[in-house]
Amino acid sequence: MTTTLYIPCDSTALALGADAVVQAFAAEIERRGLDVSIVRNGSRGLFWLEPMIEVATPAGRIAYGPVMAADVSSLLDAGLLNGGAHPLGLGAVEDIPYLKRQQRISLRRVGVTDPLSVDDYLAHGGTLGLRRALGMTAAEIVKEVTDSGLRGRGGAAFPTGIKWNTVLNASAPQKYIVCNADEGDSGTFSDRMLMEGDPFQLIEGMAIAALAVGATHGYIYVRSEYPHAIAALSTAVIKATQSGWLGDSLLGTGKQFHLEVRKAAGAYVCGEETALLESLEGRRGIVRAKPPLPAISGLFGQPTVINNVITFASVPDILAHGAAAYQSFGCGRSRGTLPFQLAGNIKQGGLVEVPFGLTLRELLYDFGGGSLSGRPLHAVQVGGPLGAYMPESQFDTVLDYEAFAAVNAVLGHGGIVAFDETVDMMKQARYAMEFCAIESCGKCTPCRIGSTRGVEVIDRLKAGRPGQIELLRDLCDTLQNGSLCAMGSMTPYPVLSALNHFPEDFSRRQT
Ligand SMILES: Cc1cc2nc3c(=O)[nH]c(=O)nc-3n(C[C@H](O)[C@H](O)[C@H](O)COP(=O)(O)O)c2cc1C
Ligand code: SF4
Repeated sequence: MTTTLYIPCDSTALALGADAVVQAFAAEIERRGLDVSIVRNGSRGLFWLEPMIEVATPAGRIAYGPVMAADVSSLLDAGLLNGGAHPLGLGAVEDIPYLKRQQRISLRRVGVTDPLSVDDYLAHGGTLGLRRALGMTAAEIVKEVTDSGLRGRGGAAFPTGIKWNTVLNASAPQKYIVCNADEGDSGTFSDRMLMEGDPFQLIEGMAIAALAVGATHGYIYVRSEYPHAIAALSTAVIKATQSGWLGDSLLGTGKQFHLEVRKAAGAYVCGEETALLESLEGRRGIVRAKPPLPAISGLFGQPTVINNVITFASVPDILAHGAAAYQSFGCGRSRGTLPFQLAGNIKQGGLVEVPFGLTLRELLYDFGGGSLSGRPLHAVQVGGPLGAYMPESQFDTVLDYEAFAAVNAVLGHGGIVAFDETVDMMKQARYAMEFCAIESCGKCTPCRIGSTRGVEVIDRLKAGRPGQIELLRDLCDTLQNGSLCAMGSMTPYPVLSALNHFPEDFSRRQT
């Protein structure tokens, strides 16, 4: 009987040598005359164990990792194909505590299936949401998404149902669905993992959005540094079209939805939704003034739904299992799950999809295992480069949009970058200003000029010049209140949180 061996094709696993492991297995399997089929799956998101391989046994899938090409022979000698014991053995994959404690909804198939196998997708619940949506009116689909409590996972946490309702009610000759897959935040990778590991789910979510608002055309704007995601999506669009879930007649209903993949321009600001639309239209990515909202006048001036990858990827489950099931996860106004991403100085970096409601400390220690260096965790930046640095005294903050707002922090896209006590928070504040100066689209003065002045002020502070902290606070006030978009208005989050929570790193320079 053929044994199935799973070896990830996710970028992280590839960067850590997964292709060399595949080659070593292929050669050894041939040499030993074994009957083995190698399937390239997505990553389970336990990055310190990548390349993590799995073998299908009658008792379920057994994992081993991190596996190098040089380990292949000893793994086969130890009876890997029957789940045999080996120093790299991790036991039943579903029982690995890091995975067992998660509640995966948007990434439920990632790492389980072959990302580009239509049969695998269907066998694991694929298209159930789309099939249900095809039997509903547009307003019923929007209501289901509204009732689920889903809020945008790209950062701003705007209620998805309200956005879709605006597009549904706009009358126009053409409407568009746009997926924001620019994923520029530091320490984030959930969008990439989803696109590489389960691209059909994103396509299904976008098709449901199209039915909900009456759109017939969509685009996925993918970060240019994600070649594997672009390749996976491009193939998935072709296969979904051949399978009849995309194109001229969705599952034979006569309803159309055409989808194209676009490589992004390589600028952080092109993740801002209006700059993204400019870029998609072929111009330089400069932020547009709002109003009008993209929902009223978006791509090519037409009503447009623009959502993040994980937002769309949450939709098939909501339609398949109903709003109430999704809404039953989470806390307060933060419903469902969020795939958190642990990065930086952390022992067990990777993806943790859990319902809102745990604390930051649980995520950092119960999942992350504390710092990689072994020193105490000193600061964590949550929500990307525009997110606040949180000190140890805030680690008990509940992972919920409102609880974070109450301590002047943001959950954003769920990226968490950890630092130990060797970090210099004044350097981090300078980095935030410098990042803004480099990435600013230049449209408004507070951000374009203020960020450059911010770097200069911090340099003078470092040189010991008095009065600079007051000036820095003043500048942050101008950026926060005078900028056109969140790039400028949120840069003060990392700067002020560093200043407020870690004053010792600044005051040393003032004496
Ligand atoms: C500078 C800047 C960069 C952004 N980058 C991204 C990004 O890479 N991905 C994303 O989904 N949203 C990003 N956003 C948020 C988008 O403007 C927008 O809120 C989001 O695409 C809406 O989708 P959602 O409602 O599903 O979150 C960014 C915003 C700003 C201000
Ligand atoms: S805040 Fe910065 S990125 Fe946003 S519009 Fe102004 S200059 Fe452009």
